Amino acid sequence: MWLSSTCILGLSAVASSAPTAQRRQGYTTTASKRLGLQWLGGNSSLPKILVLYTGGTIAGGSIYGALDDTQYGQLSLTGEQIIARNPYLLNHTQLAVSNWTTKEDGSTGTNDALVMNMTRFTHDALCSEDSDIDGAIYTHGTNSLEETGFLIDLLVNCGKPVVAVGAMRPWTHLSFDGDANFFDGVMLAASPEARNRGVMVAFNSRIIPGFWVTKLYSTNPDAFGATATGDLGIFLNSLPVFYNTPSRPIQKHEFDLARVSSHSSFPALPKVDILYAAREFDGKLVLDAHANGAAGVVIAGTGNGGIPNGQEEIAEALDNGLQIVVGTRSPFGPSSPSTTPSYAKAGFIHVIQARIQLQLAIASGFNMNQTIELFEGPMRGAIGQPWSPES
Ligand SMILES: *[C@@H]1O[C@H](CO)[C@@H](O)[C@H](O)[C@H]1NC(C)=O
Ligand SMILES: *[C@@H]1O[C@H](CO)[C@@H](O)[C@H](O)[C@H]1NC(C)=O
Ligand SMILES: *[C@@H]1O[C@H](CO)[C@@H](O)[C@H](O)[C@H]1NC(C)=O
Ligand SMILES: *[C@@H]1O[C@H](CO)[C@@H](O)[C@H](O)[C@H]1NC(C)=O
Ligand SMILES: *[C@@H]1O[C@H](CO)[C@@H](O)[C@H](O)[C@H]1NC(C)=O
Repeated sequence: MWLSSTCILGLSAVASSAPTAQRRQGYTTTASKRLGLQWLGGNSSLPKILVLYTGGTIAGGSIYGALDDTQYGQLSLTGEQIIARNPYLLNHTQLAVSNWTTKEDGSTGTNDALVMNMTRFTHDALCSEDSDIDGAIYTHGTNSLEETGFLIDLLVNCGKPVVAVGAMRPWTHLSFDGDANFFDGVMLAASPEARNRGVMVAFNSRIIPGFWVTKLYSTNPDAFGATATGDLGIFLNSLPVFYNTPSRPIQKHEFDLARVSSHSSFPALPKVDILYAAREFDGKLVLDAHANGAAGVVIAGTGNGGIPNGQEEIAEALDNGLQIVVGTRSPFGPSSPSTTPSYAKAGFIHVIQARIQLQLAIASGFNMNQTIELFEGPMRGAIGQPWSPES
């Protein structure tokens, strides 16, 4: 059902179609009917945007008054209630809510199985041949919004926009940012200009690429930014304005969702842990992670992918079949390849994203050498070129 050929067909259909996705001729059903989506709004000529609700601060309220932006969470809004706060949205789009929360984990979307299930649902809704849906938006807790965004970016690639939104302040706050971010995000997902740009984050009037995005500030409403490149555009009057035509990161690798989903870790992903390197780094942590069930480890290395010590344990873990990727604990810049690698350097991929890429690589059957090529391939040509000042 999730073959990548479906994706390619979907892409060509999208590229030539008007704002509203037209159901492909010859299909007796639509994704909307098959998935039981209830469209709000009533004007059937407007774009259909799927609202994937995972909660987050955008759905959170506080009993501690209008100044509280740290202790909230006692009150909540459903996806339908967030839409009802923005009725003007339905003059521009049709919206259907799909709920992706669990009882134990009401709003943070941190469970791999849950976000993988949501990703499979999104792929089916947007990229199947009977899709009648133009784009999707997901509400998410800001702490792991970028993890879900990167995952979807590598797995859902039929050209239709997927936009992440959230809020840094609860809706009880005197200056709630969620309504504007939600409105902007829906308008972005509905925009024909947004196609073929990968996952995007609509936050604080900025359009930030989902491939590079990270939470740079823990409490400020201007919380997100890209670790490489800049923003894709801005919102003016809540409408997207792009700086450039669509492009895709050279480092980006698309994974086949069906193949990833046939791994034994289904419905989740292989366990991969992140270790943070500092002076006196203990290499035994790498062996311990493996003994604890990890199939891979990402190390947030010092500077350009350094590891202060523990090389013997790392070599032992590699021999035992653990896959290792070393990124940088610096917020910007690469962890660049070695001339004779035994593990992968993450290049420009941030360690948070490197964990997800390693999970997808392992689930796709990559061995350590293939993982090295995956992460380092785009940068390898810049390594080891001969040069001497005398020549
Ligand atoms: C429905 O949307 C279309 C496209 O924007 C618009 O032309 C039309 O006036 C709308 N119909 C109603 C009843 O609002
Ligand atoms: C928005 O829709 C409402 C009805 O749902 C209508 O009364 C109003 O005129 C519309 N506004 C615009 C600007 O289309
Ligand atoms: C989503 O969950 C909320 C809260 O339980 C519920 O009110 C709403 O009807 C659900 N929406 C859908 C489409 O299932
Ligand atoms: C994910 O979907 C599978 C079935 O496809 C189900 O067994 C599992 O409970 C779901 N997990 C979560 C967390 O939604
Ligand atoms: C990985 O590459 C190294 C160096 O090219 C080679 O010696 C080794 O046999 C390869 N391992 C596998 C599993 O292919």
